Amino acid sequence: MGVFYMPVKVYTQKEAVGKNASMLASFGRKALLVTGRNSARANGSLEDVCKALDREGVSHVVFDRIEANPSVRTVMEACSFGIAEGADFVVGIGGGSPMDAAKAVALMMSHPEEDSSYLYRADGDDVHIPVVCVPTTCGTGSEVTAVSVLTDTQKGIKKSIPHKIFPDLALVDGKYLRFASEKVLANTAFDALTHLIESGLNRKADCLSLMCVEEGLRLWSASLPILRGERKAEDADFANMMSASTMAGMAIAQTGTAIPHGLSYSVTVKLGVEHGKACAYFTAGYLSAAPQKEREKLLSLAGFSGIRDFQSVLHSACGKVQADADTLKKVLEEDVEEMCSNSAKLKAAPFEVDRSILEEIAWYEFR
Ligand SMILES: [Fe+2]
Repeated sequence: MGVFYMPVKVYTQKEAVGKNASMLASFGRKALLVTGRNSARANGSLEDVCKALDREGVSHVVFDRIEANPSVRTVMEACSFGIAEGADFVVGIGGGSPMDAAKAVALMMSHPEEDSSYLYRADGDDVHIPVVCVPTTCGTGSEVTAVSVLTDTQKGIKKSIPHKIFPDLALVDGKYLRFASEKVLANTAFDALTHLIESGLNRKADCLSLMCVEEGLRLWSASLPILRGERKAEDADFANMMSASTMAGMAIAQTGTAIPHGLSYSVTVKLGVEHGKACAYFTAGYLSAAPQKEREKLLSLAGFSGIRDFQSVLHSACGKVQADADTLKKVLEEDVEEMCSNSAKLKAAPFEVDRSILEEIAWYEFR
C-alpha cells in the first residue's frame, strides 16, 4: 500500500467557475490567465474566468499563445509577461497544453533569477506561485496531477519536467465540452482511457488508486456509444466524460503512466499524431501483453468486448496513423531503443517486459 496524495481542491459542478468565484479570486491580486489562441474564447471558459475575477475585484491579464505540446520557449515568454505585469497567481484554461504550461509558468515566476534550464533541473525545488486549472477537454486530467509535459523544440524532445506542481484549485465543468469538435472529444476521451488503463495495469496500483480507475472506467463507458457513433452527446455525457478524465488524472497522480505514454511521445513529436490517439495505439499492445484476467476486467469495465473492439472504436473515432512504412519503422525502432533505457516506465508494468515484449507492444497496432 502506497500513499494516496491528492492535494487539489476540486469542484465538479455546473457553472463551477461562476459558483466558486471568491475561491478563484482568493489566490492573489492579479491573475495571469494562460490559454491557447482560440478554444477558451469559443467555449466561454475564458469569459467565465474573466467575469468571475471582475466580480471579485481581482485584475487579470491574458497570455493566449500556448500551442499544442507547449514549448519551453513559450513557457518562458508567458513567465516574462506575467512578471512584467505583476501577476501573483496563474490560471490555466483549456486542455492539457495550457494547464501544463500554467504549472511551469507558475514555477518559473517563483524563480525569476533562473533561466529555462531550471525547468528540467532535477535538483531544483518545486516552489511556485498558486495555480488554478479550468479544464475544457476530457483527456489530460492535468487539473489534478503534478505533471507538466513540455517540448524542447530545438532538441525535438517531449518530456515531463521533474518538478511536481499540483494546482491549488480545479474548477471542473463539463459544459465546455459542448464546444469541442468530435475529433478533440474522441482524442481526449482516449487519452483519459489510456490513463485509466495504464494506472490500472501498474505496479504502483493499490486499492485507492484502483478505486479511481474502476469508477473512472464505469463513467467512461457511459460515453462509449458516442464514440461508437451510436448517438450524439448530451449534457449528462459531457459531465460524465469530464469527471472520468478528472478521475483518471487522480489515478495517474498516484501511479504515473506506463509504457503506452512512454512510447507515444516520439510518435507525437516526429509524426504529429495527437496525444490521446498515439497513447491509445500502444495501449492496444500493452493490453495484449498483460495477463488475460486483468486485460478482460479493464476492457469490460470500459465497455469493450475485447482488444479488437477497442481498436475498431479507436480507428473509427480517431483514425489510423498516416505515415509511410519506412518512416514508421524508423520512428518505432528509435522509440523502442529509447524506451529500453527508460527503467521507470518499464518497471511500471506489473509484468516482465524485455526488449522483445516491448517490440510486440510497439508494433501491435501496426502489423
Ligand atoms: Fe495522456
